[in-house]
Formats: sequence, structure tokens, C-alpha cells
Amino acid sequence: MITCPTCGQENPADSRFCNACGAELLPAPETREYRKVVTVLFCDVVGSTALGESVDPEALRTLLGRYFDEMKAIVERHGGSVEKFIGDAVMAVFGVPQLHEDDALRAVRAAVEMRDALPELGVEARIGINTGEVVVGTAERLATGDAVNVAARLEQAAGAGEVLLGPETAQLVRGAVETEPLTLELKGKSEPLVAQRLLVLHEEAPAFARRLDAPLVGRARELRRLQEAFAQAVDDRSCQLFTILGVAGVGKSRLTVEFLGSLEEATIVRGRYLPYGEGITYWPIIEVLKQLPGPSDFGLEPAAVAAIEQLLGEEHAATSSEEIPWAVRKLLEAAAESSPVVAVFDDIHWAEPTFLDLLEHIADLSREAPLLLLCLARPELLDKRSGWGGGKLNATTILLEPLSSTETDELLERLLGEAPLEPDLQQRIREAAEGNPLFVEEMVALVEESGDGEVSVPGTIQALLAARLDQLEPAERGVLERGSVEGRVFHRGAVQALAPEETNVERRLTGLVRKELVRPDKPQLAGEDAYRFRHLLIRDAAYDALPKATRSELHERFAAWVEAHGAELVELDEIVGYHLEQACRYRAELGQADESLERRAAERLGAAGRRSLVVGDASAAAKLLGRAVSMAEPSGPEGVELLLELGSALADFGELHEATARQEEAVNLARKLGDRVLELRAACEVRRFPAITDPFYTAERAIEFGHEAVLELEPIGDDQALGAAWALVAMGENVRGHWRGVEAALDHVVEHARRSGDRKREIEARQLLSASIFWGPTPLSVGLPRVEAMRQDAGEDKWLESWAIRPIVGFYAMQGRFDEGRELFARARSILEELGLPMDIATLAFWSGPLEMLAGDPAAAERDFAAGCEELEARRETGWLSTMSALHAEALDALGRFDEAEAAVRLSKEASTSDDYDAQALWRGAEAKLLARRGQFDEAERLAREAVATIDRIDEVNHQGNVRIGLVEVLRLAGRNDEAREVLEEALARYEQKGNAVMTDQARTLRDELRAAD
Ligand SMILES: Nc1ncnc2c1ncn2[C@@H]1O[C@H](COP(=O)(O)OP(=O)(O)OP(=O)(O)O)[C@@H](O)[C@H]1O
Ligand SMILES: [Mg+2]
Repeated sequence: MITCPTCGQENPADSRFCNACGAELLPAPETREYRKVVTVLFCDVVGSTALGESVDPEALRTLLGRYFDEMKAIVERHGGSVEKFIGDAVMAVFGVPQLHEDDALRAVRAAVEMRDALPELGVEARIGINTGEVVVGTAERLATGDAVNVAARLEQAAGAGEVLLGPETAQLVRGAVETEPLTLELKGKSEPLVAQRLLVLHEEAPAFARRLDAPLVGRARELRRLQEAFAQAVDDRSCQLFTILGVAGVGKSRLTVEFLGSLEEATIVRGRYLPYGEGITYWPIIEVLKQLPGPSDFGLEPAAVAAIEQLLGEEHAATSSEEIPWAVRKLLEAAAESSPVVAVFDDIHWAEPTFLDLLEHIADLSREAPLLLLCLARPELLDKRSGWGGGKLNATTILLEPLSSTETDELLERLLGEAPLEPDLQQRIREAAEGNPLFVEEMVALVEESGDGEVSVPGTIQALLAARLDQLEPAERGVLERGSVEGRVFHRGAVQALAPEETNVERRLTGLVRKELVRPDKPQLAGEDAYRFRHLLIRDAAYDALPKATRSELHERFAAWVEAHGAELVELDEIVGYHLEQACRYRAELGQADESLERRAAERLGAAGRRSLVVGDASAAAKLLGRAVSMAEPSGPEGVELLLELGSALADFGELHEATARQEEAVNLARKLGDRVLELRAACEVRRFPAITDPFYTAERAIEFGHEAVLELEPIGDDQALGAAWALVAMGENVRGHWRGVEAALDHVVEHARRSGDRKREIEARQLLSASIFWGPTPLSVGLPRVEAMRQDAGEDKWLESWAIRPIVGFYAMQGRFDEGRELFARARSILEELGLPMDIATLAFWSGPLEMLAGDPAAAERDFAAGCEELEARRETGWLSTMSALHAEALDALGRFDEAEAAVRLSKEASTSDDYDAQALWRGAEAKLLARRGQFDEAERLAREAVATIDRIDEVNHQGNVRIGLVEVLRLAGRNDEAREVLEEALARYEQKGNAVMTDQARTLRDELRAAD
């Protein structure tokens, strides 16, 4: 059944005309809901009760009837619709059924007309206007939402003859009005509202102000083409039709201003099409005619003069409308007689067909007159006239593309002048605007105004884009919306899956491409076609219009589609997880949380996070795993795993408190589950960040806990838990400086991690293991083959290889294989450079520097240490810097650059913490030598002996030797050779133990020298 909208008669479903009144029956509009930003206007009459008392009821009825008719007419003239009459009040909505980019301004214009019309009826108006998001169903056209309530409240707060604007409305129309602020306490609102009282409305103001003040950026080629077209018109005495197409704000009008400014001898006339108004078909032509001398001045035929005068409203004698195009052409040709004419018609995408016909008539038929018709339009023009300009030899159409990113930067610079924004703010504007100069301007204005450093999308831009989508036919729009669910880039198959009822996806997409809304893009899935939204903001506008319930459903369906079709995608889990997450989020917002969907989302996000963890992207992992945890409360053994992984990811980039909190949750959950193995594993993990978890923490207690866990776990044989327990032991041994213990524990960790497939733990263990083999007491004869084997094991993993190379270089140096060492070292360096890891590169000096020292080239060593220190300092790193600058001091000392050596010692001293034993020992050793050279032997010896005592607390055998050699030097300078020889023997023993051939030789030579000196 179709109900006739005119008379209410019910008609059979397939009727085209009403059986009762004969009115045309339009198909029932699709009943679906949209979210829209609309402007709501309430208008009431002041004193109507008093009026009711004083006027005869019959007269009052007539009066009110006239009032309603008049109000309705005004609203509709501005493209709004009257939603309802409530008592004496009128509620109108601008944006329903059709959005316009200037709905807010239309509402204000209508308000002013209403206000001015009412006194004639003997009453006064009070009006409230507010803009905001509402949900509308296209069938019953009812706007609901908070925005409506606020508009009503504003109207109640307005005085007689007043128009009050809500903040959003005021922001949108700020270029066209003058207002004064007014703070209102509104019923039912916690915050006071800052409304604006309308003082002046500037007629003719555009929907939003264009600045035109920054100098033109780019567009050299387009300008040249315009100039060529003009030259051709002049040279051939011909008419040229030049059309600039481009999306809103891309710079069509601006380019035109620039071009016109470059013309010397030409008569320039301009007309602009308005988006709405009454009887505006010929409006731009009328404007143009007014800028030219009258038709009689050119001696035109009387019929032409009559037609023109009629157009100008001067002559009421009717001429047939067929004469108008001809007359206009004649007039333009006559005007071009003396000097070339450039006639600009802006915004002709709003033109009526008759007007487009007129332009084509002139372009086709004009002869012997230099005339450039310059037309500006958005791509929508092609919807009206797909063949615009086509087939004409004298027509040129260009498409104005967005500015490049360098051009955008230039524009930003010119707009901001002396007061640039923060670089990352500027960067965000550049990214969000994507080369659209209007968007750049509006965003800059918004940022400058709000001053909170946030880049949000200005309401003006949102209105512009939403209005553009509202003009699409529903099927085309549906396709665009389905695409927006996938993202900026979407696949045809997905659209089809989300819109199974649509039989012509292909054609719709082609239409959208032609409308410059999307363009074909490289598909991410084999055998698919992909499209990309021309602008991210278009995607957002399409998406934002979908009701949340629809978004939720579409996300879930998309997840299913990509699960089925995206097996080849590396990020499949992440993508599916994201879409399920969105589906859950909207459901939750609507109070319809769906637990099983949440679990599925969490599983996918968890899986994606785990993979990021393995490839070493801790920050991505932490985010993904964090999302998984907040999606669904972790439960069961998988929940414990998830919390542990999240903790590990957080710890990787230094979020230790957060990491510990998550791991403690894991311990509690495991305990609740009664799973002892998991509990032990989690407990070992949580103890790896000692100072945070336990104020009574000592390395010994950590080691003890680890060993106890190992004892309990060994019979069960759970590799993951055993890996965690041994990792705890290794950490404790590391803290107390027992490299041998570290090495032993890490051997277990590597073994268990390999068996349980825990690649991340294995890699971390290997990295430290190779270092502990070198620094600890393991002799070269055992250590070198081990680290060489580890390099083999690293296989294709370049980063791991770079770590395995370090101790090899260290051992080679001890053997005097300097060139081999340098070669390997160069390889490690180039790997790290390629991987872009400056911090890892900085620490290479720990190996290259000592090699050069052993090779007898302290100058080379000094260069390496200096560079390493500089990088570490620049990154405010201190853990490594403390040790490296002490080594740097040694190299400077060897070069005789004592002042610099002193500075390096100071740096080391400042950077070392009390338990940083090797740094504490090394800087003391270096300073002792400097003091001894100045003859301060007592102080020197005290420091040097402290250095020995300190280094002996840890088992760094080479360093134990080196620090002793320092003491030997001090004693020798003091002339105490006997004591020096004793200490030297101790050093020698350590070098022999480690297998350090080069130092063994040097120590022996020194022994001989000391003997000879006696
Ligand atoms: N190349 C440019 N260099 C500097 N500013 C520009 C450039 N292009 C455009 N602008 C500025 O961007 C704003 C929007 O440009 P313009 O009004 O010309 O867009 P448009 O394409 O005519 O849009 P519409 O379709 O809405 O009429 C203007 O303020 C203009 O001054
Ligand atoms: Mg323009």
C-alpha cells in the first residue's frame, strides 16, 4: 500500500498516480537511519498569550495561520524543512532531507528573515539556533538528539526580537556575522553554555570565509594553460571555453583571481552561481550584464536589446526565452569588439541546465570575437552534464589536483608567517589536509583559535564533505559507506560482501571514481580490485554518517570476509582483531555488549601482539596486547599468557611499573586457576624487575627463588616455566656481577627457550650469553669456539649476528689477530647501519676501542670511544656511558692528552651508580694514573687500590688484570718497583687464565723492564 502524500488515500503498491486525487506517487523513500550534523531552528512569538486575550479568536486563528505559512515559506526558501509546529513555535531543520555545506548559514539567514517578517504581523519573534549531530530516519524525518534540546532552550532564553546562536553554529558562520557572547545556565545542563547574540548578518557572505591573503603557492602550469587559452582567443579572435574542475577548496577561485590579475588588456566580467535562491537560473549572467555597458550602447538589434532588458528586469514586454542565449552572445561579442572579454562563471556545478545550455550556445556559435569563457566547477558538474566541453575544438578542461606536500608546507609557512606552529602540529595539519588549501586554512584557524594544540576537523569542512555525500544517490552512497568500513583503501569483494543486495557494485564504483571521491588503487589481496578514498576526510564523512548499530554489524561482517579472503595477509590477525574490536565497541556503546564477540576480538588482537613481540616491535606489541586485555577480562591459562606477554612487551620499552602490575595480575590469575606451573612462571617473570616488586630485594634472593623454582619444575619439565626460572637466575647473577653464573644460567635459558619455541627469550639470552662468555672467566680456548658457533647459529638473523661478532672481535684482539678483528667489526657495523640502530652502533666502541688499544693504536681507540660517548650522551644514556668514558680516559691518557682525560674521568664518575662496579673501578684506575703523574702518589695509590678492590667484586678477568696494571704504573712512578712487581704478577696470572696473549706478552715485557730497572 502507498499512502498518497497529498490526500491520504491508500493506493495499491504498484500505483504511480493516486486513485483519488491523481497526484504522482513517488516510491516510498528508503527507511534507513543516518547520523548527520544538522542545524535546528526554533522560533516562537513573544506575547502570544497576551495577544490571545486581546484579539478575537477568529482573527487570532487567521493571524497564526498566516504566521505559520510565512515561516514555512521562509524556511523552505533557504532549503530547510519545517519539522513541526509546537504551540506557537516553529521547529525547522536545515540538513534534512538534504545536507548543504552552508546549512548553518542558511538557518541564520532564515532566522533574520523570520525576525524581520514578524513585526508586520504585529508580534515579535525569539529564535534559537543550534548545530549538532542527530540521527534521522529518512522516512519520518524526525531529528532527535541533544542538539535539538539545546536549540529549544536557546529559543526560550532569547529576548523579544533576539536570535541566539549555539557555539557550534556561531563557529560555523563566524565569517558572515557579528555577535556578542552571552553565558547561559540551561536547565538540565551541567556546564553553562556560551551562546552568541546575533548583531549583524553580512548579506552575500559565502558559506565560509576564504582568506585569499596568503600569496599563491604552485599552480604555475595551470596558470600557463589559462594564459595560452587567452592568447588563442585573442590571436584567433575566437571564443574559448575553459573549465577548471576541482573539489571544494582545492583552489579554483584562487587560481582564477591570480590569472585575472596577470591580464593587462581585457574586459573582465564575473558571475557566480549561488547554491540556492529564488529564480536564480540566470543570476550569474545578470551579474555579468550589469558589469557591461547597456545593450543599446553597443547598437544591438532591438530584439536583443529587449531580451537583455527583460533579463535585467527593466523591460516587462515578454520576449521568448529562446532569444536570451542569442542576445547574451551578441552582447558579449559586441563588448569584445574593442578589447578581449574574459567572462568568469564560478561555481557552475550549482547551475540549472538552462544556464549550462546558454554557455554551450555561446561557446558553439560565437565567431569573430576574442572571448574567453572561464568556468569553475566541482566535479559534480559532470553528474549534471557528463559531456561538458566534450567534442568542442575550442574547449579545454583541466582538473586541479591537491597541492604537493612541499607546496603545502610552503602554504603553511605563508599563512603562519612570523608565528609558526610546533613542527609536529604542522605535520599533522599537513597530513590531515592532504593538499587541500582550504582545509589547511581552516585547520590553522581552528588551531590558532582553540590554542590547545589539537588538530581536529573543522565543522566547516565536515559540513562540506557531508553535504557532498548527501547528494549521492542512495545506492552509490551505500557502496561508499561499505567501503569506508574497511578503511581508506577498500576492496570490491568486501563491498559486495557487505552489500549483498547491490547488484551493480562495479558500476557504482566507476561512478564514484568519476565523481573524484575514490580512485583505483593497488589491491592488497590477489585477484581483487582496490579503491582508495581520494581524501581521508571523505572516508570519515561516509563512515560517520552510519548509525552505530550499522557500523557494528558491518565491522563484524567485514571481519568474516577478510578472514575468508585474506589468508595471505601478514597482518590478518591485526585486521580481523581491529574490526571485531570496533564491532564490540559500538555494541557496548549502545548497551548491547556481546561477550563472545569480545573474546574473539581479544584472541585476534592477542595473536597479532604476540607476532609483533617476536619481530621485536615492542611498542606495537604492547598496544595490541593491551587492547586484547581491555577487550575481554583475561581468564584461563591463555589469560595468564596474555598478561605475561603484555608485561614483557611493556618492560621492553621501559614501562616497568605497568609491566609489573600486569605480571602480578598474571600471578594472581594463575593462583586462582590452581595452576602451579603457570604461577611459578609468572612469579619468576615478576621478579625480573627487582627494585619495583620487592623493597627487600637482593640479587641473592632472586637467584635463590629462581633455583627453588627450577627444583620444583624440573620433574614436571615445563620448558616455558623453566626458561623463566633460569632467566631470573641469570638476571640475579648479572646484577651481582657474576659472569660465570650468568653464562651457566643462560645456557639453560637458551635450551628451554628453544624447546618451547620462545624465540624472543632465546634471542635475548643469546645476546647476553655471548657477552658473558667474553667478560667472565671462561678462557679463550673454550670461549672463542663457543662464540664462533653462536655466530653460525645466528643464521639469517643479522642483528643477532652483529651481537655474536662482538666477543669474537674481543677474543681476536687478545690473540693479536687485529686485522681479522677489524674486518669482522666492519661487518657488524654495516649490519647495524643498515638496520638503522644508532644505539647499538654506539656500543660497538666497547669492542673496537680495546682492540685498537691492544694493537698499540690509542689514537684510533680514542676516535672510537669519543664517537661512542658522544652518541650515548646525546641520547642521555648513562648505563654504558659510565664505563665507556672511563675507557676513553685511558686512551686519552695514553696519548698524553691529560686535561681531556681528566674531563672524561669526571664524566664517568658522574654517570656511574654505586653498583656499577666496572665503571667505578675503571675511572678510579684512570684518575690514579693522572694523579701519580702530577706527583700526588698517596692519593693515587689509594684510588688505584680501591679500584682493584672494586673490580675484584666481579669476575671480569681482563678488567681485573687491566686495573692492576694501572696500580703497577702508579707504584712505578712512585719508585716502588718491588711492590709494582708483586701486583704485576697478579695481573699476569689473570691474563694467562683468560688466554689474553697480547696482554700476557706486554706484562712479561713490563716485568723485564722492572727487573732491569733494579
Ligand atoms: N595555490 C594556492 N596558494 C595559496 N592559497 C591557496 C591556493 N589555492 C587555494 N588557496 C586558498 O585556499 C582557499 C580555498 O581556495 P578556493 O576558494 O580557490 O577554492 P575553490 O576550489 O574555489 O573551492 P570551492 O569549490 O568551494 O569554490 C582560499 O582561501 C584560497 O586563498
Ligand atoms: Mg571557489
